[in-house]
Amino acid sequence: MNIILLGPPGAGKGTQSAMLVEERGMRQLSTGDMLRAAVKAETEVGLRAKAVMERGELVSDEIVSALIDAELAAMGPETGAIFDGYPRTEAQARALDEILASHDRQLDFVIELEVDEDALVDRITGRFTCARCGEGYHDRYKLPRQEGTCDKCGSHEFKRRPDDNEETVRTRMAEYRAKTAPILPLYDARGIVRRVDGMAAIDAVKQGVDAILD
Ligand code: AP5
Repeated sequence: MNIILLGPPGAGKGTQSAMLVEERGMRQLSTGDMLRAAVKAETEVGLRAKAVMERGELVSDEIVSALIDAELAAMGPETGAIFDGYPRTEAQARALDEILASHDRQLDFVIELEVDEDALVDRITGRFTCARCGEGYHDRYKLPRQEGTCDKCGSHEFKRRPDDNEETVRTRMAEYRAKTAPILPLYDARGIVRRVDGMAAIDAVKQGVDAILD
């Protein structure tokens, strides 16, 4: 199964992807994670993407589509893909159609996480992750069970994303409204869009996603 998780910054795409990976053995293809890894490694792509990401704008369509193509090429055909944060423009949506066809895959569902944008600033500015394993947390909605210790790997180091400040989040949301939301009608026309209330608690959102995929 190949699915897109769609929603503005902080909608819960990464949170839900992580659970699908763990429970269904699917693979999360997050262009945001790939770009952050490239920035950290100071590759040519990373050097080009760094300032764009810090402003909250979109990296070029060619760069992100090439990243997705390379990841899919390295995956076995039996492993399902979760596209998280991709596609984000009409050009990327068209590129994904071609990439999927070239890997003999088809898109099963586009799951839109419906959220109230005002609440998202709070979600994003409270977000932090384990510096070692990447497990995601939130200052109020998902704290580690033991304060200062990662539930998953036991590390005591955590980090926050440089683009998770209010000003950049507002730009990221404006980019979503202007460039990403308009791709939904393309998928609606194919009858593959399903909607889940992303404002519900994390487990309730998960149940909504599971109900679509089961
Ligand atoms: P990217 O990394 O994709 O960021 P994003 O889309 O802004 O999404 P986020 O990761 O911020 O949010 P999320 O929906 O995954 O939320 P999460 O689950 O963490 O992109 C970053 C940048 O890279 C872009 O700005 C752009 O520059 C570039 N880029 C990436 N892809 C690109 C592309 N295709 N084209 C061009 N440029 C690209 O949840 C957020 C917080 O809320 C967490 O703390 C979580 O614990 C909490 N939470 C989650 N669900 C709930 C819930 N139901 N209730 C309460 N809290 C919740």
